[in-house]
Amino acid sequence: MSERKKVLLPTLFKKVEKGEPITWLTCYDYPTAYFQEQAGVDMILVGDSLGMTMLGYDSTLPVTMNDMIRHTQAVRRGSPNAFLVGDMPYMSYQASSETAVLNAGRFMAEAACDAIKLEGGAEMADRIAAITAAGIPAIGHLGLTPQSVSSLGGFRLQGKGALQAKKIIDDAKALEEAGAFAILLELVPDRVCQIITERAENCIIMSLGSGPHAHGQLLIYHDLFGLYPKFTPKMAKVYGNAGEVILNGLTQYVHEVQNKEFPERSHYFGMKNAEYDELVKLLEEEDKPF
Ligand code: KIV
Repeated sequence: MSERKKVLLPTLFKKVEKGEPITWLTCYDYPTAYFQEQAGVDMILVGDSLGMTMLGYDSTLPVTMNDMIRHTQAVRRGSPNAFLVGDMPYMSYQASSETAVLNAGRFMAEAACDAIKLEGGAEMADRIAAITAAGIPAIGHLGLTPQSVSSLGGFRLQGKGALQAKKIIDDAKALEEAGAFAILLELVPDRVCQIITERAENCIIMSLGSGPHAHGQLLIYHDLFGLYPKFTPKMAKVYGNAGEVILNGLTQYVHEVQNKEFPERSHYFGMKNAEYDELVKLLEEEDKPF
């Protein structure tokens, strides 16, 4: 197990100050969290994308707070030291600031999170302010916000036009002023991300498919390793095709069992002759007719 120090909010701001990019990945389960901890990933997001990557839904909308808490607890067990962010699922914060605070509190109390993330611009500033006032660090999420994918017209670049880009820049300022300590920009043009990063005064700007000018980068873990069978977005770099490795292994397993090549002698356990003879004797005695 790695002995690294726990990543805290000041650790992240120190990195920004020194110009060291922050690393951030999604994660949804214990073994992956363990590997991310060993690799030294700074931040982990238990995203509501788990609805698609882990639960097989077509969108993130059916994901519940209970789903999120269960997965976040597993991730925390695998990674005690990364800065852990719980993603507020659909309708866990939209209805009111009060529900937002209560659900954000669940992430902190039940899953030992360090912060929460929620989607939306100026219209969500009061939720960010209420959560922050409750002592819970909050991250905003702008650009492509998957919970609003229907009104955004699909999974596509946001802020291509000047007016839309200006709105994203204004939204970022509103979230920062409301108290967000970080903002994730998903799928916005690199120069829009650059402007927001340069204008941020006390706010960490993270990029998901929004270019290199942010303070750090986020990717979806499943996209890094070819683990989501439906598609791999252009913004993801594939670092290894684990999906292919797993499929080859599974096909070989099926073949070997069917052809009686598995198990080999090293994969099972025997019994001492004396014990076996005793067992046979016991069974024979049991089988004797009265
Ligand atoms: O749920 C998630 O993984 C996210 C990312 C798309 C940023 O919110």
